[in-house]
Amino acid sequence: MNSGTGTDIRSGADIAHQSARRQDRVRELVLGALESVRRRSGEASVLDCGGGSGRLAVPLAVAGAHVTVIDISVDALAVLRRRAIEAGVADRIVPVQGDVEALPESMTSGSFDLAIVHEVLEVVDRPGFVLAGVARAVRPGGLVSILAVNPAASVIARALAGDLVAALAELRGIVAESGAPGRLAPDALAEMCRAAGLVIEATSGVGVFAELVPGARVEAPGGYEALAELEALAASRSPYRDIAARVHLLARRDAGDGSMLVSAPRNAGPDR
Ligand SMILES: C[S@@+](CC[C@H](N)C(=O)[O-])C[C@H]1O[C@@H](n2cnc3c(N)ncnc32)[C@H](O)[C@@H]1O
Repeated sequence: MNSGTGTDIRSGADIAHQSARRQDRVRELVLGALESVRRRSGEASVLDCGGGSGRLAVPLAVAGAHVTVIDISVDALAVLRRRAIEAGVADRIVPVQGDVEALPESMTSGSFDLAIVHEVLEVVDRPGFVLAGVARAVRPGGLVSILAVNPAASVIARALAGDLVAALAELRGIVAESGAPGRLAPDALAEMCRAAGLVIEATSGVGVFAELVPGARVEAPGGYEALAELEALAASRSPYRDIAARVHLLARRDAGDGSMLVSAPRNAGPDR
């Protein structure tokens, strides 16, 4: 499976920098979604599926949200608890040990304003089934934020690194198993959203070029600025977003009355 792409052409320091930048961008996208679903009172409830150690739950709680995190890993939830206490938001985070493939009924009653499904659909056996459950968890008009590793990015990274045999094997796997767990191409994800009754409002790539450029090049004068601008411009534009290391979809549960109730977040690109 694609584990972040391009390992051959990047040093450990490159990978750490790129991962930090990716996390910043993802946090920005999620906080934008939170702004968009806040109720008049400013309150918002969030369900973080496979939220692990709280990389998003903690900043969301700091921003005022009430966050329920369901994760199968006891260890990850222990880290979440510690981080929540350190950030002073333990009273706004509810950790639940459980399986997203069997969401408890209390979670699927349509009460959440925002659900997050980041880097989880590719590790479960029935991604479409999980997404349908998550869609039921949000209220009509609520948002679902989906982030998935893009299998196309791995093919490109391997080819650019000169490992053409691995690139070919990777591409053959994608062609043969398109839509299978671990091989969720953006079009398969989009189809899953439609099947779950979600309307996609924005699609963006996270890490279009950042994960392909060797760190030394980025550190050259003007490198960081140029890369940041490249990423910002390319993120919501096809074909660049289609080859990004991660694909982010922001989808809304139909309000059922022909309207979508609230407007799209300001920092999400248009879906083209
Ligand atoms: C790659 S991590 C992503 C963590 C987090 N969503 C993020 O983006 O930082 C995948 C997480 O999903 C959790 N997970 C895997 N399978 C799961 C399942 N069936 N039910 C609940 N959580 C699961 C793992 O324990 C892990 O914390």
